[in-house]
Amino acid sequence: MSPRITDPLTIGGLSIPNRLYRAPLLECAGNGPDAVETLIRELEPAAEAGAGLLFQGATVVRGEGGCAAAGMTRVHDPAFVSRLSKLTDAIDEHGSRLFVQLEHGGLRSMETWHAGYRAENPDLQQLAVSRPPPLLRAADRLGLLSYDPDVLSAEEVYELAADFGRAAERCVAAGYDGIHIAGANMGIVQQFLSPFYNRRTDEFGGSLTNRVRFLSVIHDEIRERVGDVPLVTKVPAETGSPAVVRRHLSERDAVEVCRACEAMGYDAVVPVRGSVFWDMSLIRGEFPERAWADDRFREGYEAAFGPRWRAVALANRLHATGFGFEPAWNADLCEEARRHVSIPVLCEGGVRGPEIGDLLGSAADAVGIGRPFYAEPRLPARILGNGSARVVCENCNNCTVPQAASARGVCRTPSVLTKRGELAREGAYER
Ligand SMILES: Cc1cc2nc3c(=O)[nH]c(=O)nc-3n(C[C@H](O)[C@H](O)[C@H](O)COP(=O)(O)O)c2cc1C
Ligand code: SF4
Repeated sequence: MSPRITDPLTIGGLSIPNRLYRAPLLECAGNGPDAVETLIRELEPAAEAGAGLLFQGATVVRGEGGCAAAGMTRVHDPAFVSRLSKLTDAIDEHGSRLFVQLEHGGLRSMETWHAGYRAENPDLQQLAVSRPPPLLRAADRLGLLSYDPDVLSAEEVYELAADFGRAAERCVAAGYDGIHIAGANMGIVQQFLSPFYNRRTDEFGGSLTNRVRFLSVIHDEIRERVGDVPLVTKVPAETGSPAVVRRHLSERDAVEVCRACEAMGYDAVVPVRGSVFWDMSLIRGEFPERAWADDRFREGYEAAFGPRWRAVALANRLHATGFGFEPAWNADLCEEARRHVSIPVLCEGGVRGPEIGDLLGSAADAVGIGRPFYAEPRLPARILGNGSARVVCENCNNCTVPQAASARGVCRTPSVLTKRGELAREGAYER
């Protein structure tokens, strides 16, 4: 019989009270004096409302560079990370599990795409798997992106993996229940996996076996420091890449990477379709018309993209036409992965409610929801309490683009917020 959403699941020996998780989403908490309170404010409602598992948004393993978006939290400083025990205690009190996601942006780091950040940090170099591919070098020459790559020697690759291990050690000491490696969304792990980025000729490049080696070394560094802590990674299929990108990870490659992860000792995988870029293929839905037109963010867009911000908005509009919303758009990829691995496969991307029963029967051991948490921070109370409940989020993406202007991730669609208000008055978010 298929499991139900309310059934427990075990990941790497850790019991998760149910099969609904909050997918990693930027909390924009940074590392300032309010960081821990911000994370509690962003994450605790989901735990209080019953989410079995929460993945905190990506955190950066080093103190300098590697930050892909404004407001990302860094986990390099032991004194700061120890303060996160207030967050882990708060989540623990509700019986939910909390994993931290570890990341380094590499060639996706903020100074490559955010003009203002680059001007403030003129000396930042990007850790690079290889020299940027020709398409990105062309974008650099046109002034659309800006690279100053520092191509990693093999020794430096091991050192970076050790930083993932050290960050994991600090986070586990602060009470996190598990570690999630940011294997997709164009971070440095994906850059190692991807034939678009990875042109190395050493033990970390060439065959898929070599390109997954970075994930393997990260695994070993973490195991050496924190033993059998549950360890999860996203696994990208770069099938949403533009047609000009011939070298990309296929779905078959992604399934192979899932198999390799199981063999290395990862405890669960999250196969996701995306692209070789951070683009709409990861957050399928509508063009965020309202957010681009909102004068409150104009200054932030100009800071990020300079006078060309309108051209960026136009490119976003064109790109969005190719990636309209599809319910559970990773389901078939997850189902295929599940045929080849025996560790849990977690499915996210367009999961919106009524389809969850079917997903748990075929494609997934647990299901994750992302953007709808911006609209309904206490969403799990509805989803776990009613098998036919549907999120109120309309996939309009007005919560996503303002983050380029350093704005918080919140729902900005009045009709959706009105619905949430009505549901709250009806008591739908009470457990
Ligand atoms: C604003 C925003 C920030 C995100 N941040 C992360 C992240 O830090 N790490 C990650 O692996 N995925 C991140 N994602 C991807 C989500 O985890 C999720 O896969 C995606 O939003 C699709 O799920 P959804 O349709 O339920 O939103 C982010 C998505 C959005 C919209
Ligand atoms: S702005 Fe609101 S409705 Fe639109 S995608 Fe974000 S959370 Fe969903």
